[in-house]
This record gives sequence, structure tokens and C-alpha cells, in this order.
Amino acid sequence: MKFNIALVVILLAAGNTQSQTTVPIPLSLEGTTFDLMVQHGTSEIFPGIQTNTIGYNGTQLGPTLILKKGETVTLNVHNQLGDTTTVHWHGLHIAPSNDGSPHNPILAGENWSPSFKVLDHASTYWYHPHPHGKTLNQVVKGAAGFIIVRDEEEAAINLPRTYGVDDVPLVFQWKTFGTDKQIVEMDELDNEVLVNGVLRGATLNLPAQVVRLRLLNGSSHRYFDFGFANNLIFNQIGGDGGLLDVPVSMSKLILSPGERAEILVDLTGKEGQTLTLRQFGSLLPQGYPGGMMMNMGGGNNMMGPLDDTDFDLMTISVTAPTSNPVTNIPATLVSNAPLSQTGATPRSLTMTAQPMMSMTNFFLNGLKFDMGNINFTVEQGKTEVWTLTNQTMMAHPFHLHGNSFWVVSVNGSAPSANMKGRKDVITVPPMNGNIKIVVQYDDFSDPDMPYMYHCHILSHEDNGMMGQFLVTAPSSNTEDLVNNKLVFYPNPSSKTLFFEMDNSTSEGVICQVIDALGQVVLEQSIEVLNGKGSIETGFMSIGSYAVRVLSRSKTYSGIFVKN
Ligand code: C2O
Ligand code: CU
Ligand code: CU
Repeated sequence: MKFNIALVVILLAAGNTQSQTTVPIPLSLEGTTFDLMVQHGTSEIFPGIQTNTIGYNGTQLGPTLILKKGETVTLNVHNQLGDTTTVHWHGLHIAPSNDGSPHNPILAGENWSPSFKVLDHASTYWYHPHPHGKTLNQVVKGAAGFIIVRDEEEAAINLPRTYGVDDVPLVFQWKTFGTDKQIVEMDELDNEVLVNGVLRGATLNLPAQVVRLRLLNGSSHRYFDFGFANNLIFNQIGGDGGLLDVPVSMSKLILSPGERAEILVDLTGKEGQTLTLRQFGSLLPQGYPGGMMMNMGGGNNMMGPLDDTDFDLMTISVTAPTSNPVTNIPATLVSNAPLSQTGATPRSLTMTAQPMMSMTNFFLNGLKFDMGNINFTVEQGKTEVWTLTNQTMMAHPFHLHGNSFWVVSVNGSAPSANMKGRKDVITVPPMNGNIKIVVQYDDFSDPDMPYMYHCHILSHEDNGMMGQFLVTAPSSNTEDLVNNKLVFYPNPSSKTLFFEMDNSTSEGVICQVIDALGQVVLEQSIEVLNGKGSIETGFMSIGSYAVRVLSRSKTYSGIFVKN
């Protein structure tokens, strides 16, 4: 009897495998030391055909690295590619020397072992090669993996977090396959989509409860507009670099290359049903790759066979709930405190094409990337507002290394609710579209090694739509101190504001804080030691304030911003 049941199970399983591929879940690695070997291999993406691919610790993609905020991790990378590579930890707040940019090459056969403290908020990040001029080549062949950061703030919320069961990473990648089913290193006419490395249309089993999907658009070129076949409402809970304040409910979600989103889907009571996740390319705004491109005249509008169409990406087959399921969508998540733009230094970057209608030759501020040229410097701790303007015919996903940013506006309007968290990729809409972001680099100044900013369409990036900047140490304040100026940090400040003056001052002083209308909002006597003192700003409303410190011999003054 037992034997018969086993036989039936085997026969059913065999029957199923012919028609249904399952979406594989990448292995996960936890701890503080991780070993990655990047290597060539072959993968059976199309039945019976071996496609040449690149993977970390395997033939395609790579293990998911699960990191904990506050821990110091070491990542040992061994390069078996026979070519130079780098591994960029996309989205992590780390020093330029650990970033895996084109400035941290790993030569063929060599090892690289960056070690750093995880400072990031719980979210979904990823890793991929970034050698200048070869990023498309290595990423499109399959070199990419997930990074999941966990922290206490996220752990305190009732969210699904059993990896591969109710918390599932899904990387969606457009690719170009030649007639021989090999991957073509040219992304302009992409003709297929893979989900976790298998062909679109595969099945993912998920339990009948609230599930969390970590979506990554790991494509080199094209956008996704995700949605379910029956218009099922889902909730976005996180963006690139952290959770949102509250879940944002939606039925469609656009992700650019490089961008991530965490969504909750409520499958409660749906056991036995199937659900189809689809690409709604026909709904992408014009000029977004994967949708309808601008008409260039002469028929060269760079449209691939699946562009501007809707098709199935994967089927979700709903199974029995787990023993301890999450069954509610939380009402609130975290409370984000976006950087204030008051007093920030403005900076602008313009995207152009040459000739103007070109769909392949792009520039940032009129320049192509040059490894030897630093485009600008940003002072550590200073807030900047960057305005990006896109004077080309297509959308470009702008990505910034080293730290997340906050979105101020998109085409002059406040960002949508799902863009209000920390981000590191943002689409600059075509045809004079513009975005504004607030940027601040608090840590990791480096006199020599820059951070990158670039378009995350990999052929654009390889072709020089990239720049780099140094984060410089906070400016020496000698001159300010001679002129009786106060130096503040952090500035903007939300709670305790520290100030510094002539370091020979150690005495009781009077401190006055005056608001923009000239009202004294604080007058207090405080003790200054070696020129350093502090005041509490928690009760002050947002804005900029003048401060006067009266010592026995001098009056010092300065301006700080409360946020
Ligand atoms: Cu994900 Cu500079 O890249
Ligand atoms: Cu990056
Ligand atoms: Cu671009």
C-alpha cells in the first residue's frame, strides 16, 4: 500500500515537471563571513539547450546574503571569470574602498575581501559586477544576487520573514537571446524575460496568508509595470533603502532597472487558487524602455518584440497556510525622517543625447565617464539638493552610490507615496522631465576614491553615462573661528545641536537662538569646555535659526537648520 502511494506521487510529479517549471529560490547565506566565487557555467533556460551564463557560487545568479544591521561583515570574493570584475554592493552605505565600483577591480584569478559594518536599514539590496565598460556583459550573463538587510526596527513589525516561504526574493530580467539561445550582450532589442533565472511563466508556490515579495528589476535596460491578472490590490511596504511609513496599496507598480520594492500580497483564504503576475508594458509611460518608445522617424524606435505588450511573468499557486501565518497587513511601518532641503547646496545634472534624437549616445553634464576625472566634490555632512533634467527622448534610471537619498519632486510635483522612503535609483522622465533629490554623505570621506552616479541602463553606463565625486572631509574651520563664527554639527539638526568656537574658551557663556522672524526662541547660560558646547533643539519648529554665543571677551554667531 505504502509502495503504491509512493509510485502515484512519483508519477504525478513526473507529469507536472513537463508542463511546469518552478521558480527557484536562491540559497541564502547568513553570518558575518561570506564566500563568493564568480565563475562561468551553463544553464538550461530553454529545454534541452545549454546557455552560457555567469554566477556566484553556481552557474547563474548567486546566493542571497542576509546581513544584520550593526554587524561587521567580511565578503571574500574570488574571481574565476578569467577577466577583470568587481562586485558592487548596490545600495549599501559603505566607504568607496568597499563599494565594488570600477575603482576596486578584482583581476582574473584574484581575491577581494572588503570588510565593513552594516549601517543600512532593513531592506532589499543587491550585488552585481561593475567593471567599467564590461558591466552589461557580466550582469546580462547572470552575475547578480540579493542582499537582505535585517534590523530591529523591522523585526518589531509583524511581517512575513521566513525566507523562501512567505518572504521571497524575485529578480526579473529582460534579456536578448540569439537564435542559438545564447545571451547576446546587447540590450536594445530584448526578447525574453527570466524570473529568478528561469523563463517567464514558471510557477511559485506560496502559502494562503500574507506573503512578502521582494521584487528586483535586475534588467540591463527595460522597465517593468507589475500587476496581477485580476487587478488584485497589493501593498508596497518598502522601496530601495528601507521601509515606508505606511503600506501603500496599489494594483500596478513600475520598477526601473536597478530598483527594488517589497510588496505584501494577501493570499488568505485563497488555498488551491492560482494567480498570475503580469507585465503591463502597454501601460508604461511613453519613452520608458519596455513600453512605447518615442517615434524617431525612419522607423528606428528601438522597440523589442515584447515591448508595449502585456504578458504573464509567473503563476502563483496558493498552498496551505503555514503553522504561524501573518494574516494582516500592518497599518503602520516605520517613521522616516527625510532630510530637510533648507539651507542645502544646489547641484544640477543634465542628461543629453548626441545627436539630440540618439537612443544610444548619452552624456551627463555634456561629459562621458572618465576614470581619471573627478566630476565634483561633496563635503562630508553637508546637505545637497540635486536636480536632474533629462533632455533626451527616453527615461533614464539615475542611481547614486554610497548612500540613499530622499525624493523631493518628480516633474515639479511631490513624489508618490511609494517613493517617500530611502531610495538609490530614481527615474528621470524623458523630454525635459526632471527630478529633485536631497543627498547627504555623513561618513566615509576619502581624498582619492570617488563614488559613482550613473544611469542604470547598463549599455548607457558602459558607454559613459556615469560620473564620480569625492566626499571631502568637513572643511577646516580655522578661518571661521578667527572670524568669531560658530561651527555646528550635525547641521541640519533634529535634537542636540553641538557647536564649536575658539578652543581656548572654557567658561560659562550665554547662548541665544533667534528665529527667521527675529524672535528669541531660546536664551540660556551654558558651560563651554575647550570651545565645545551644545543646546537642545527638539522643541524648535523646522526652519533656520541664528545663534549668538556671548563669552566674556567675544560674541560668536552662526546659522543652523532645524529639521
Ligand atoms: Cu547597481 Cu553603480 O550600480
Ligand atoms: Cu550602486
Ligand atoms: Cu540611460
